[in-house]
Amino acid sequence: MAEYVVEFGKDGRPVEPDGRLDAAAFHRNHQPIWSVLQTFLAGKSGDVVEAGSGTGQHVVYFAKHSPDITWWPSDLNENHLKSIEAWRAYASLPNIRPPLRIDLSDPAWCPAMHDGSGPAELLAVFCANVIHIAPWRVAEGLFAGAGRYLGSDGRLFLYGPFKRDGKHTAMSNAVFDTSLREQDAEWGVRDIADLEKLAGTAGLVLVQTVQMPANNMILVFGRTADT
Ligand SMILES: C[S@@+](CC[C@H](N)C(=O)[O-])C[C@H]1O[C@@H](n2cnc3c(N)ncnc32)[C@H](O)[C@@H]1O
Repeated sequence: MAEYVVEFGKDGRPVEPDGRLDAAAFHRNHQPIWSVLQTFLAGKSGDVVEAGSGTGQHVVYFAKHSPDITWWPSDLNENHLKSIEAWRAYASLPNIRPPLRIDLSDPAWCPAMHDGSGPAELLAVFCANVIHIAPWRVAEGLFAGAGRYLGSDGRLFLYGPFKRDGKHTAMSNAVFDTSLREQDAEWGVRDIADLEKLAGTAGLVLVQTVQMPANNMILVFGRTADT
C-alpha cells in the first residue's frame, strides 16, 4: 500500500505554527515498526541514526520508549529538518539530538559523522520509506554509511515495500511502483535480492525479514548472519 510521495507540508495536511508536520502514515505504522525495533534495542544503550526522518514523528515516539538510546534524526529537505527540530523541541526529551543534515546519496553522510560532533559507533540505523522514493544512489549511500558507521553488532532496519525475486508481493505495491516510476524513472520499489547484493558491498548481510501490515516489510541487516 502506498504510504506517501508528496513532500510533507505540501500534501494538504495541517502544519503547526512551530513547523511541526504530520504524516498520515505515521499514525498507522509507528507501533508495528516499534515492536520490531524494540526487540533489538531492549536492554541496550547507544546511538541510533534515523535516515530520512521526514516529519520527525517516529524518532519522538521511539525516543519516548527507549530512554537509554540516543536518537539522531536526519534528513535533507529543509522543511523536514525544521519539522524534526520542532517536534524535538515540543517533545523535550533528553535523548533526541538536533537533526543532522544527511544527504544519503553521499556515502560519507555528513561531516558530523566523522568530526566528533555527531554520534560515534552506531547501534542501529533506521530508515523508513526512503529508498523507493529516491534514486538508487540513495540506497547505495545508505548502505555505504551503515557499513562504515555501524558497530560490530549493529543493525540497519529498512522499512517499506519491497519486491521478492523480481515480483511484487501485492497488487497495491505493483500499482504504487508504476506511479513512482511515472513520477521519476529513477524511483521504484526495490528488490530484496538487489539490496542483499548492495549490502554485501558494505560488509552487511540480510539477517531477518519481517512482514509488516499493509504489504510492507522490515529488512534487518547486520555484519554476519549469526549475530
Ligand atoms: C516518504 S518520506 C519518509 C519519511 C519518514 N521516514 C517516514 O517514514 O515518515 C522520504 C524522506 O526521505 C528524504 N530523502 C529523500 N532523499 C534523500 C536523501 N538523498 N538523503 C536524505 N534524505 C532524503 C525526504 O526528504 C523525506 O523526508
